[in-house]
Amino acid sequence: MQRRARCRVYGYTNSVERFKRRSAAGPNFLACLECNEIGNIAFSNFRSLVLKFKVLPMQAQRPGDILVVDSDGVFTSGLSPVLSACGHTVTVCRTAAEARYELDRFSFDVVLCARHLPDGEGQQLCHELKSSTEGSITPVGLLVSGAREIDEIMYRPSGMVAKRQIERVPPDEYLSRYLPLDEMPARVQTLMRIGRYQEEIANSIGTLMKVAEGIEEQDKRMTGHCKRLSIMAVELGAVLGCDEFQLTALERAGYLHDIGKVAIPGAVISKSERLSPREMEIIQAHCVLGERLCADVAALKPVLPIIRHHHERADGTGYPDRLRGQEIPVLAQILSIPDIYDALRMWRPYRPPMNEAQAIDLLRQEVSRGYWNRLIFDAFIDQVLPGLDERLNSAHVLWPAI
Ligand SMILES: [Fe+2]
Ligand SMILES: [Fe+2]
Repeated sequence: MQRRARCRVYGYTNSVERFKRRSAAGPNFLACLECNEIGNIAFSNFRSLVLKFKVLPMQAQRPGDILVVDSDGVFTSGLSPVLSACGHTVTVCRTAAEARYELDRFSFDVVLCARHLPDGEGQQLCHELKSSTEGSITPVGLLVSGAREIDEIMYRPSGMVAKRQIERVPPDEYLSRYLPLDEMPARVQTLMRIGRYQEEIANSIGTLMKVAEGIEEQDKRMTGHCKRLSIMAVELGAVLGCDEFQLTALERAGYLHDIGKVAIPGAVISKSERLSPREMEIIQAHCVLGERLCADVAALKPVLPIIRHHHERADGTGYPDRLRGQEIPVLAQILSIPDIYDALRMWRPYRPPMNEAQAIDLLRQEVSRGYWNRLIFDAFIDQVLPGLDERLNSAHVLWPAI
């Protein structure tokens, strides 16, 4: 029996000589000599290959597709061969229009873009790319003349971050175009590593979001709750002055707040009769279970307190920790009101859906009883509810008709 292994990147199956042993990972863990992909090598014939791949930082050493956007022919004709020599595929565009054409058709691992282009600004191109669904995790390096230009872009004379910079999604790195060309491959590798980490994070969060949406599929009359809540929570957060970081946490929490229900039997979730104390305990555990499920994804750290505390009430009668007033994390307070509103508008096994007026009326009574923060409630009623149905309709997540 011959000892063989297969490289996932290059697809070949070959003898272990083509792989190098990684003693730290154990005798069966080897990495491909050409791309560094790690594999669990089986002692077997061609057909029974057991490969257990892990995404490691060394993946970033793989060559990638690089888009260089710069009108300076001397610079690009010097840079391209240096990057190509490292195995990268390099595409050069002279203008923003050419770059948009390429970006519409292909995906790139890294984009290097000059700050000034004949038909626009590199920062604008970066903003457009990072605001798009497909390009949001593509790392962008903005090519600038030097440290002074970086200061000019990022700071006012007083040291405050310029407002126009905040309004645009910034590049991942600023690169001086006067760097020695042989340093550029290392900088490109760093950007590729950033991109691959971002991709891994996006994939992990995306998978959890799909699981959360899958819970809704148990009953078609309750579909769309995650997405509606996400939209409403972000709108409410924006009205209340949350920054981009907090809005991202609210958006993710909209999807993930009830993910702990995945561990709760469907019979308990959809029970129309009064729940027993034990069943109530099981349902209430979804906050803590959800927090635990998401705890291993580092990028979800800001979302964990929202997941745990989205059923707390300001008067201390909520769960799981019976927090009161300002003890409840503010983002959890912001999420709670649209969460309750959406639940009232939805069909439930024990009651028909409420209309807007009925739901507002009940929420108002609960605010008077001290359940919810009045300022957040007022912002929701005055600034989020007007026109909400049309906005949800255009996002195709209006409450399902019964
Ligand atoms: Fe919940
Ligand atoms: Fe919910």
